[in-house]
Amino acid sequence: MSNETWIDICDAGDIHAGVGVCALHQGEQVAIFRSGCGQQLFAIGNYDPFGKANVLSRGITGSLQGEPVVASPLYKQHFSLRDGSCIEDASVAIPTYPVRELEGRVQLQSL
Ligand code: FES
Repeated sequence: MSNETWIDICDAGDIHAGVGVCALHQGEQVAIFRSGCGQQLFAIGNYDPFGKANVLSRGITGSLQGEPVVASPLYKQHFSLRDGSCIEDASVAIPTYPVRELEGRVQLQSL
């Protein structure tokens, strides 16, 4: 915990509710969202393992049974924004990344 490093990504105002932003984070494509009534930040892998393309930042966010999710723009699978699990296929999960907002900046934890 003490030596965690956070990487500056963008201005907090650049991430609007329900509109994902794709960031290249230490070689990984990360999709960052602001979602839910708390307008919390979430960061997940941008790669859709079903559609086999980097598209999840363009997905529609919402809530399924209280779980914040994004729907892939390709085949419409839903992924939890909290833990990356696929709602329709429990055997599939995508990566998630620690994200925070600090002093008006969005930051991802160093990998
Ligand atoms: S924070 Fe109010 S419903 Fe989620």
